[in-house]
Amino acid sequence: MQADLERVLFDEQTILRRLDEMAAQITHDYRDRELTVIAVLNGSIIFMADLLRRIPSPLKLDCLSVASYHGGTKSSGEVVFKQIALPDIANRHILILDDILDSGLTLAAIRDKLQTANPRSVRLCVLLRKRKAGESPVQADYVGFEIEDEFVVGYGLDYMERYRNLPCIGVLRKDLVAAAAA
Ligand code: IMP
Ligand code: MG
Repeated sequence: MQADLERVLFDEQTILRRLDEMAAQITHDYRDRELTVIAVLNGSIIFMADLLRRIPSPLKLDCLSVASYHGGTKSSGEVVFKQIALPDIANRHILILDDILDSGLTLAAIRDKLQTANPRSVRLCVLLRKRKAGESPVQADYVGFEIEDEFVVGYGLDYMERYRNLPCIGVLRKDLVAAAAA
């Protein structure tokens, strides 16, 4: 799998060191409020596992499954919720976790949907944010790393459901993306 990467952006150690900092910040910010984490599957699964184990305070965890990509490398803008019932979040302080903020369309749709269940507050935490021209429809409150507008895989992020189990994050070789699209 490593050979399919054009280059590595963040190795496992670098990611985990950054998670230490993010977890400390979140723990501090929610010191007097109980947190309910809503993790967006499948991309945030490894990020979630490593981040939440670094937060020592009590919290609740729920997951949400959406599809927005349909196999390509560009967001379709169409977000499909794979479950009918929303988690019970009325009056709770919600932190949405996702792997990456790209166009922001997916997270905007998720945030709007969760708002309908009357949470007390909603914040957003992403491992990666792509530098993009133009405004995103959502702002992230916690960001692990800022990256250029390139297609990356690993540490939960996939290309056609592969590479999620790579321990590092890297840029996928362009010829592999092109070959699959052909
Ligand atoms: P958005 O709606 O454009 O913000 O896309 C959000 C979703 O697209 C993320 O949760 C990822 O699943 C996927 N995605 C966006 N960029 C990448 C990438 O560079 N690598 C892998 N998945 C990506
Ligand atoms: Mg994906």
